[in-house]
Order: sequence, then C-alpha cells, then structure tokens
Amino acid sequence: MAQVVLEKIYKSFPNRKGERTAAPVTTEPLLTPVDEAPLVAVDQSPQPPETVNILRRINLRVNDGEFMVLVGPSGCGKSTLLRIIAGLEELTGGKIWVGDRLVNDLPPKERDIAMVFQNYALYPHLTVYDNIAFGLRRTKLGNQQWRVGTSKEQPPNSLPPWLENAVVGMTRSLPKGLRYSSDKEKAVDEQVRYVANLLQIEPLLNRLPKQLSGGQKQRVALGRAIARNPQVFLMDEPLSNLDAKLRAETRSQIVKLQRQLGTTTIYVTHDQTEAMTMGDRIAVMNLGQIQQIAPPLELYNYPANQFVAGFIGSPPMNFLPIQIKAPLLIQHSQFRLTLPEEWKPFLKNYDERSLILGIRPEHLNLSVPATKNLAVQVELVEALGNDTYLSVTLDNESTLQVRIASDQVVKVGEQVWLSIVVEKIHLFDPQTGKTIR
Ligand SMILES: Nc1ncnc2c1ncn2[C@@H]1O[C@H](COP(=O)(O)OP(=O)(O)OP(=O)(O)O)[C@@H](O)[C@H]1O
Ligand SMILES: [Mg+2]
Repeated sequence: MAQVVLEKIYKSFPNRKGERTAAPVTTEPLLTPVDEAPLVAVDQSPQPPETVNILRRINLRVNDGEFMVLVGPSGCGKSTLLRIIAGLEELTGGKIWVGDRLVNDLPPKERDIAMVFQNYALYPHLTVYDNIAFGLRRTKLGNQQWRVGTSKEQPPNSLPPWLENAVVGMTRSLPKGLRYSSDKEKAVDEQVRYVANLLQIEPLLNRLPKQLSGGQKQRVALGRAIARNPQVFLMDEPLSNLDAKLRAETRSQIVKLQRQLGTTTIYVTHDQTEAMTMGDRIAVMNLGQIQQIAPPLELYNYPANQFVAGFIGSPPMNFLPIQIKAPLLIQHSQFRLTLPEEWKPFLKNYDERSLILGIRPEHLNLSVPATKNLAVQVELVEALGNDTYLSVTLDNESTLQVRIASDQVVKVGEQVWLSIVVEKIHLFDPQTGKTIR
C-alpha cells in the first residue's frame, strides 16, 4: 500500500470553438482556494491560446491506507483528476507520486492502481469469472503481490510460457477436468474465488454482465479492482446507478472492505451524504480547485468558505445578507442580534461592513416574537417522519430551510417566529467568500 501525493496538478483542454462547456473558461480568482497562490498555470511552456483550465493547482496528500473522498458539483473536474492519477489522461503540469515513485511518465498498468468506473466498464462478452480474472491473466505472476497467490516468485513451468498460454486457450472451453491449468491459472483461480467470496458473488461467476442487476455489476467491477490487489483504488461514483437502499448498503460494504484491505482509496462522488459517511477525510472541489480538505465533521462545523458551507449539509446552510455594527451587533432589516464575546477580535475590521450570515436548518428554532427573532411565512412543510423540514420566506425575499422536530405542528401559509442559535452562526466575507473566524 502507499500514499498518493498530488503536487500542483494542472490540466487544460483545448477550447474547441463553438463548443459549449460547463468548465470554468475564466482565470478570474474564484471562491477562496486553499492557498493564496495566483491562479495561473505553472506549466512553463507557453500554452496555446484558447485553452480551458479544468484543474488548477491541485495539491493533495492521501495517506497510506486512507479513504479520501473527493466531492464537488458536476463538471468541477473530479473524473478528470482521477483519470490523470490513473494515467488515462495526460496532465498539463504537476507531479503524481504513488509511494515513493513518481508515476507521471508511467503507463496506467505500471502505476499499480485499479480504477472502478461509474458505468462499471465490464467486458460484455466475458463471464463474471473472466472479468475478474482478466487483469490477473495479463500480469506476470512473479510481479504481482497477490493476496492469496501461493507463490510470489515465478514458479518453474513445465512448458514454455508461449506454449502454455496456447494450451490453456485451446483447452479452456473443455469440461473442467480436461482443461490444462498452469500454475498461473491456478493462482488466478484462487484469487478470483477469494474475491468472489469477499463480495459474495460466487453464485454469479458463470454469468455474463447482461444477466446481472446494477448492484451485482457494481460488485463485479469492484471485484475486478480488488483482485489485482493494487496499491491504490480509484473509484468514480461507483454507486450512482443504484437505488437508494442498495446504495446505502453498498456504501457501508465498500467502507468495510477498504478497512479490511487497507488499500489507499480515492473515491469520487457528488453526493455529500456519501462523502460524509465514507471518508476518513473529504476534499471539496469546485471549478477545478480544492476548496478544503478535512475530516467530515470538521468540514461541517468549520467550513473554510461559503462554497463548502453551502455544499456540505443537506438541506444546505441558509445565507442572509447582514451588516455588522461593532463590536458584536448583527443587523438585518428584519432582526438584530448580538454575537457571543468570542467574536470580538474577528469583527473589529468589519464595523459597518456587509457580510453574509450562514445558519444551518437545524440551528433555527420555532420561537416567540422578539427583535432578535425572524418572522417568516411557511411556504412548504415536508414531514419525513423522524424530522420535519420547513421552507419559509423572510420578508418575501429570502427563502430559508428549517428543521423542526416531527411532533411540532406547523401549517402551510402560517406565520411563525424563528430564533437563531447564535453559537452556531457562520459569517462570510462577500468579496472573497472566506469564513470569518
Ligand atoms: N476531453 C475533454 N475535452 C474538453 N473538455 C473536457 C474533456 N473532458 C472533460 N472536459 C471538461 O472538463 C470539465 C470537468 O469534467 P469532469 O468529467 O472531470 O467533471 P466531474 O467533476 O467528473 O463531473 P460529474 O460529476 O458530472 O461526473 C467539464 O466541464 C468537462 O466538460
Ligand atoms: Mg465525473
């Protein structure tokens, strides 16, 4: 196993004329990158004009055995980054280390990385068994630190390899007892069965991919990656084709497997629930840049900027424009409240300035009329059984999401008062998007 280090990764694509792209076509500073480096390509060679920067200054260290989740909205560059690490896409600038090897110039199969794709990418004409065995058969037995391979040395073969391969191929379609099985094929068989057992897909080994459900295909794709016992797993939204229940099940299965195998993993998703529940740490990406890297709850409680605050959490954090009156007063046209003392040092430069107040749905409570409270109109009530979510409008302008206990009864059209849990307020600088704290 190995750590993965990404150093100043840049990627540009030619910007074909007339082609619409969701990519950031601008080099303007975006919402606060993690560091303050200027957002220009490091690549020393002059870039051809009309390129689109898809990834910019990506620095990321994934520790040995760590489960790192890469999360961000559609089009922010997650798949591109994974493909670059796997060697399926060339980078424009930067370095990629796997363990102590610089892998920039290595072809994909020499990087010792296995990737699981969103669409599973199984070979349709091969059985489940052969899909899992495929990568193993193409590697030299002696090179592969297989988990259950009996020998890590090249075993002495009774036939020269070219002849042996031919005999294996010729006898493969014969009944089992008549097939020629080389030492390598025996090791492959052991490994395929070990993985099939791990993923509980043994009964499926003789089926073709078209005879499998989405969840089963997903496990086969995972099996194919696990069988190679690589140093690193890269997974690109492997659960997005599954229904909600299967997704939740498979989610915990993948986490358990990863712990068991201890393989360094980078897992891409745009689903923040997946990110929160699976990752040791999460890297949040937007517009080709990493915004913050932290353990799940740290991201949730201490987002570095307004983008992260709005992206992590469901329903998302509410934002309201407010004004600061030194030392501790927050003013909005509809309410005024005083922040706790510990805010003083952070607000001394913001007197009379406009800021963005952020408050999560669970930190707004039904309350009584008061100047520090918000009079809102209830537009929507969603009773989920365990919780109830309200969508309310403040002053016919801002819409807020509120979480209340399921036994609290509120009706659509009603006017209610909300209090803000002041200890849970976030403030953001509207110019930079950065968190003030
Ligand atoms: N070969 C290419 N040529 C030009 N632009 C590309 C190419 N591949 C990807 N892009 C652009 O790069 C951007 C990032 O794409 P990428 O697939 O990495 O996004 P993503 O974060 O994986 O999104 P999603 O969550 O939708 O899968 C997109 O705007 C995409 O249009
Ligand atoms: Mg993608």
